[in-house]
Amino acid sequence: MSGKNPMELLIPGEGGIARAAEILVGGGLVALPTETVYGLAARADSAEAVAKIYAAKGRPDFNPLIVHVSDRAQAEQLAVFDDRARDLAERFWPGPLTMVLPLREGAPVTRAVTAGLPTIGLRHPSHRVMRAVLEQTGLPLAAPSANRSEEISPTRAEHVTTSLAEDCPAVLDAGASQAGLESTIVALRDNGEWSLLRPGPITKETLVRILGPETQVENAGIEAPGQLARHYSPGKPMRLDAQEVAQDEFCIGFGEMEGDCNLSASGDLNEAAARLYECLHLAASATQPRIAVAPIPDSEVGRAINDRLSRAAGES
Ligand code: TXA
Ligand code: MG
Repeated sequence: MSGKNPMELLIPGEGGIARAAEILVGGGLVALPTETVYGLAARADSAEAVAKIYAAKGRPDFNPLIVHVSDRAQAEQLAVFDDRARDLAERFWPGPLTMVLPLREGAPVTRAVTAGLPTIGLRHPSHRVMRAVLEQTGLPLAAPSANRSEEISPTRAEHVTTSLAEDCPAVLDAGASQAGLESTIVALRDNGEWSLLRPGPITKETLVRILGPETQVENAGIEAPGQLARHYSPGKPMRLDAQEVAQDEFCIGFGEMEGDCNLSASGDLNEAAARLYECLHLAASATQPRIAVAPIPDSEVGRAINDRLSRAAGES
């Protein structure tokens, strides 16, 4: 007997959402669906609650968490918004964009959330269920992806239960995540510069059109510690840009290269993004000892897919 309570499975609907909100307000953890991936949420203003996230994920404490808000007004209590931030919020919120902005003095978030940085990552998610929970708690919620550190991100409730087991006391199951890739992270600095910290569903091309050229930052890796290599690991060797497949390889296909799991038979990059983690989870649990991945075009959301794949392969 581990002594821990079994995981509570909640379904959306008034009862499930109210129960999730109750656990969160009480300082507990709940895995919640978002349009990108499932997040492991805790109230962002409580040191004890946030410490539970780091413990459950086995996440290093220098890696800050994204804070989810229910609207722009709540976001502006936490960070200092300039015109660019307001413009991006206007265009992309609610949705898969995280903005790293200067932390507002006296913001009601515990230090561990920002890992002591003078900035905070904020996102207003669009998922109906996530929004309902945010509104019911009335609190900003810290939520990293609901997987153990370095493992594949969850796009279904079952992925959460497999990865975190009893370390996550409750999960609200709303089916598969729609975008399937974590949010785009953009840092807006107070000197007017900006940079892309993590490619995602909102593409770099789109951001450049709005913000102008990106500033190249030498030490971006330090600024976004979660972007270190060895993330999204399927736990077995994986090679990318495979032109053909060996007998002992599980093939993640794309377009005409069919594979054991196809990201998108029609070659649609958005569909491929939505199916990426699904295929990586299947590849991880397959009997084949190795994984081969078909070439994916490196444009639009394909960049984000290739970013995740090269980390999963331990290449970046
Ligand atoms: O789509 C998403 O963003 C999902 C869902 C649950 O919202 N969340 C997510 O969280 O992907 P996580 O913790 O797996 O990734 C958060 C990333 C990390 O790479 C972290 O280093 C970066 O955001 N981050 C958070 N706050 C930051 C800050 N103040 N400065 C720089 N990077 C930050
Ligand atoms: Mg993650």
